Amino acid sequence: MTAADIIEAWDQADPAAIHPTRGIDEDAYWNSGVNQAAILGTVIPDGAKVLDFGCGDGRVAIPLRELGYGVTAVDASPNMLGRLHQHDPDMPTVLSSGAGLYGQLGKKVDAVVALAILIHHNYADCLDLLTELRQAVKLGGILILDWPVSDQPVEGQAWLDVTTWSQEAHDDACNRIGLKQVDARLPWGVYKAVKAG
Ligand SMILES: C[S@@+](CC[C@H](N)C(=O)[O-])C[C@H]1O[C@@H](n2cnc3c(N)ncnc32)[C@H](O)[C@@H]1O
Repeated sequence: MTAADIIEAWDQADPAAIHPTRGIDEDAYWNSGVNQAAILGTVIPDGAKVLDFGCGDGRVAIPLRELGYGVTAVDASPNMLGRLHQHDPDMPTVLSSGAGLYGQLGKKVDAVVALAILIHHNYADCLDLLTELRQAVKLGGILILDWPVSDQPVEGQAWLDVTTWSQEAHDDACNRIGLKQVDARLPWGVYKAVKAG
């Protein structure tokens, strides 16, 4: 599946089906974002300028902003951003598929959060997105990425499939793009933006 197919699928998705908790309990869905924002807050410096890339309807971006971060919420889906604005009309948003992201923003941020987005892309598109995200972060900044490594890596074929990476491919990408993994014991990978190579 191409990135464009995945974006179209998310844009048209039934809001009730976009997260495992949502079909069960709407409060559980939003509380999961509050809890994840609190976890992110353990590694993102206070007051940092944060990009939530693939923000969806703001499940995590909104509570991150409530924690005092300068959040910009980025998504390629106009429907997702529309729903986010119903919950937080003042949230700064950018409609972007990631291509040329740094140019769109005009300045670098202190941190990028990308949860439940890279996992749905194929290897080539994920590498492109990682490169764009890295360019959008200051040297020494932090990236929290849902980018799983597996002993049996699989490249997803459908929009809800999960792509996993071999340790070797992951480490090679980190080196080429300029990411240094930090041992932060979070449910997602935590990376420092470093010089590539
Ligand atoms: C599973 S949702 C995750 C939303 C949010 N990060 C969360 O954890 O609640 C995936 C989101 O990524 C967005 N997305 C997928 N591919 C994208 C891309 N290439 N550029 C920007 N957004 C993308 C979709 O539109 C969707 O809103």
